[in-house]
Amino acid sequence: MSKKRLLTGLQASGTLHIGNYFGALKPFVEMYEEYDSHLMVADYHAVTSVRDPKVLRQNTIDVVKDYIAVGVDPEKVIMFKQSDILEHTELGWILDCLVTVPFLQQAHAYKDKVAKGLEANAGLFTYPMLMAADILLYDTEVVPVGEDQRQHIEYAREAVTKFNNAYGETFIEPKEHILKGTGVVPGIDGQKMSKSYKNTIPLFGTPEEIQKAVMSIVTGTGGEIPEVLHNIHEIVRGAVTNNFTETNSPQKFYDLYTENKSNYKALKEALIEDIEKLIAPMREKRASISDDDVRAVLKAGAEKARERAAKKMEDVRTKVGVTI
Ligand code: TYM
Repeated sequence: MSKKRLLTGLQASGTLHIGNYFGALKPFVEMYEEYDSHLMVADYHAVTSVRDPKVLRQNTIDVVKDYIAVGVDPEKVIMFKQSDILEHTELGWILDCLVTVPFLQQAHAYKDKVAKGLEANAGLFTYPMLMAADILLYDTEVVPVGEDQRQHIEYAREAVTKFNNAYGETFIEPKEHILKGTGVVPGIDGQKMSKSYKNTIPLFGTPEEIQKAVMSIVTGTGGEIPEVLHNIHEIVRGAVTNNFTETNSPQKFYDLYTENKSNYKALKEALIEDIEKLIAPMREKRASISDDDVRAVLKAGAEKARERAAKKMEDVRTKVGVTI
């Protein structure tokens, strides 16, 4: 039996943070070999927010280095960037034509922007249908993501229904894969960790950058277990000790926090140490990957992805009626 298809993607809109790692990349690394997997850099999605071409290019290269550094073997996955496969924007357009304006107006990313009084570009508005295209083109069944992407996967399912009803059975309904403990990694201010909230702990920051971020995590005035710090630390500790082992048990972690209720500095230092343990080997691996390595990986990935996407789009074009 052939393996089920899996796909996920990250925007090339800035440096990745530990929320991206625990919410999407780590789950991907743990499951991708059991599936026929695709890992994408969403560079066209990033155009909704990045205006500087140099920055976009650099972000794209950096994200691929991050993918490889966290343990994704490019030989075992189709790793590619969205803009290399023209079928994504093509299918995105068709899906845009099937959903309504009020439906897209309910999308969180768009709603949040408008609620803040900011002007959303039309790309941000139709963003969910480009993402649906990313997923549907490859007959993806499983999409590992963080909680903030749940609605987008629902929208992709809606796009499937709309298309299949209009043109006949064509696409498969994808399902999100969201982990309970790490679906929403809190940021240093206690809100969801997010680039746009400027509350991140960088994944591949220098030790100084990581230290600066951790030292800024909000705590109470003393005497109580600092919730935000504890929650972030619990996630990191779980990963460092490979989901807790006897030598570094949940009990030890609990003790650390009860014994240091009023010593936030000691707790923060312990977290910095744990992050370093987790990141140091990945940082080393990352440093060994050149920009040309990245280009080669993306070229090979694009060839494989293109073959699949082209085949799917041929069927779609015929069904829609643009082939004569
Ligand atoms: P993006 O680039 O905002 O985030 C990438 C992944 O990181 C997860 N994530 C988090 N998980 C837990 N806690 C957090 N604080 C946190 N912050 C971010 C996100 O949920 C996501 O899984 N639209 C997508 C990119 C995309 C995509 C796709 C994903 C484009 N096409 C197709 C899957 C399939 C996005 O903006 O993710």
